[in-house]
Amino acid sequence: MFILDGQGRQPLHNKIYNQIKNQILTGELPPTTKLPSIKNLSSELSVSRNTVEYAYQQLYAEGYIHSKPRSGYFVSAIDPEFRPAPLPQVGTSLKESSEDEKSFAFDFHPARLSPGSFPVNLWRKLYIDCLKDDQNHLASDGNQQGDFDLRCEIQRYLSRSRGVSCDPEQIVICSGLQDSLSILAPILKEDHSKLAVEDPGYFVPKAVFRNHSFSIATVSVNSDGLDLECLQNTKSTVVYVTPSHQFPLGYVMPVTKRLKLIDWAESVGGVIIEDDYDSELRYFGKPIPALQGLHPLGNIVYVGTFSKVLSPALRISYMVLPHRLLTVYRRLFSEYFTNVSLLEQRTLQKFMELGYWERHLRKMRTVYKEKHDALLQSIHRHFGTQVKIIGQGAGLHVVIELVDNPLSEEELIKRAVESEVRLFPLSRTFLHKNGNRSQIMIGFGGMSIEEIDRGIELLYRTWLQEVP
Ligand SMILES: Cc1ncc(COP(=O)(O)O)c(C=O)c1O
Repeated sequence: MFILDGQGRQPLHNKIYNQIKNQILTGELPPTTKLPSIKNLSSELSVSRNTVEYAYQQLYAEGYIHSKPRSGYFVSAIDPEFRPAPLPQVGTSLKESSEDEKSFAFDFHPARLSPGSFPVNLWRKLYIDCLKDDQNHLASDGNQQGDFDLRCEIQRYLSRSRGVSCDPEQIVICSGLQDSLSILAPILKEDHSKLAVEDPGYFVPKAVFRNHSFSIATVSVNSDGLDLECLQNTKSTVVYVTPSHQFPLGYVMPVTKRLKLIDWAESVGGVIIEDDYDSELRYFGKPIPALQGLHPLGNIVYVGTFSKVLSPALRISYMVLPHRLLTVYRRLFSEYFTNVSLLEQRTLQKFMELGYWERHLRKMRTVYKEKHDALLQSIHRHFGTQVKIIGQGAGLHVVIELVDNPLSEEELIKRAVESEVRLFPLSRTFLHKNGNRSQIMIGFGGMSIEEIDRGIELLYRTWLQEVP
């Protein structure tokens, strides 16, 4: 008898696989025992047939079971001498406590990058070169604002590719958006107490500013970005925006609205935090220049990251501070050290200086465009007119809205999990409730084109073919 407990965050197919494997190893399931059919076990455990099929395939591949034509699966004989000691049951160990450690056969998480895309050999070579060449750097803490040569590379890149106008003195190297905002919050706290954020929007700014005792106001989002009238009504004097690719809906703020937003900031003595997180990944038309470039002397803080194109594991990002805030930064943070490893900074500097960053960028844009196009085709092929696609053409995810579908987001995600498909809840990006719309975020960065198609097909089957 197999029991599937609700404990632990292991994928269901792993739980089934581990349980059967342990029973075979302890002799509880002796050789030649017939396993239940995939159909019977899936209905007994209330899981999808795919889940049982994955578990059986894994056991089969490892030689624990064999199949007989038209008869099913049977336990194989394992020589006791070669029988490994069964692993202790770990149950809900600490290892399973993190949501991110869950593994799924199909992972549509929006923050996943293409596996294997990181230039490992090149990075290792440049890292070792830095270790050998920069002996003096190894004996120092490094500049608190970040390595100056790296800041020069970033300044040139931002000017050339994003239309950002600044000098390297204004750039602070950070270890991700959370780090940038944690530096920014005390700087802004001197004159401001209320932050407006897009709703839906990225959850990190809300969390960081709340932890610094800011009150948070939400601003709704239209198809041309955040609603300016709503922003004015909030009486906030700081706003966090993603104008070139609204997160998560993917809208682009047109230039007329950008200019109005700048006017708003000027009129209230306010500050705009522009998050340009994935602007490199635009697949159609011309790149959209940054808002900062429209008013370089204004109070606009520009933040960008290497997480979307290079690797989120590196934890390297940057922010460009306007001169007024730079003065406060220097006063408040003069005793601070940088959070980013100097060796990684030097390696990235060499990577950029030698032209590898631009080359890598072009390559990744091609890779993700292929995945993006394949995802749209797959959605059209399987769902036809039963879904609306929102925010395509850029970044690493789209949002799909099921037309006339009664299932809640919770139910859609639950069914997906049963089919071994991971989805990131769009509701996490809303501060207010998202009506009753069945909208789902579909990230495509981490899967192959074949996996994307198979995953979309599974979603179609589990959502629309099983609707009662
Ligand atoms: C809207 C948004 N901004 C910024 C980031 C990048 O953050 P970081 O530089 O901390 O990796 C992400 C990552 O998913 C994001 O979705």
